[in-house]
Amino acid sequence: VRWLRRWFSASAPAPALTPALRRRIRLSFEHAAADEQHFPSSIDPRIFHVRLILDQLAAINPAAVLDAGCGKGRFARLVQQQFPQSRVVGMDIAEAMLRHVPHPVLRCSGSLTSLPFASSCFDAVYATESLEHAVDIEGAVAELCRVLKSGGRIIVIDKNAEHFGRLQTPEWERWFGRKELEDMLAKHCRRVESRFISYWEDVEPDGMFLAWLGEK
Ligand SMILES: C[S@@+](CC[C@H](N)C(=O)[O-])C[C@H]1O[C@@H](n2cnc3c(N)ncnc32)[C@H](O)[C@@H]1O
Repeated sequence: VRWLRRWFSASAPAPALTPALRRRIRLSFEHAAADEQHFPSSIDPRIFHVRLILDQLAAINPAAVLDAGCGKGRFARLVQQQFPQSRVVGMDIAEAMLRHVPHPVLRCSGSLTSLPFASSCFDAVYATESLEHAVDIEGAVAELCRVLKSGGRIIVIDKNAEHFGRLQTPEWERWFGRKELEDMLAKHCRRVESRFISYWEDVEPDGMFLAWLGEK
């Protein structure tokens, strides 16, 4: 039935991000924060998703970094450790997630579709498996790029639309085509690329996860 779910999801119009839907999404993640197994507060630093982000940041030695949809801050913790002089901000829609974000990462409550930051204030922005929940994807991508400085880096790690149906997902969740998200980013970035990734550097990617990299 996977192709059927994929077909329905691809042909269904994107739902509107009404206040009621935003509230439902927020409450679902407030609740999910208690589920440490599926929403862990730490991550093995050898996992390639972490290494890719750290490598991208090392290239620009960022003064300010935004983890957009940070959850419990498992990536932000490692970013802060690697770049102790940087101001690392973890932003999420769910307060219960933010409570786990470790000091000295700065916590901030907000939504991907209306980021509570001034334009051009971050050297790097990354979003790991959070953009898929933003509903208004174009709007969220525009916001992520708005708060990025010129020359700054954006990294999005999310799942490939071609594999939609492989996991149980809430009805608002969207996965992205490789070119689809490249094109969205290209509206705001002068350089965009994407690649398939797996958890481990020596394991061939199975096509499920993609990393999109942009330079504004
Ligand atoms: C699957 S979790 C990933 C969390 C984290 N990035 C990680 O990899 O551990 C998705 C996160 O996105 C957050 N989220 C969902 N919709 C959001 C929105 N519109 N704005 C900000 N955060 C959002 C959720 O609260 C949740 O913490």
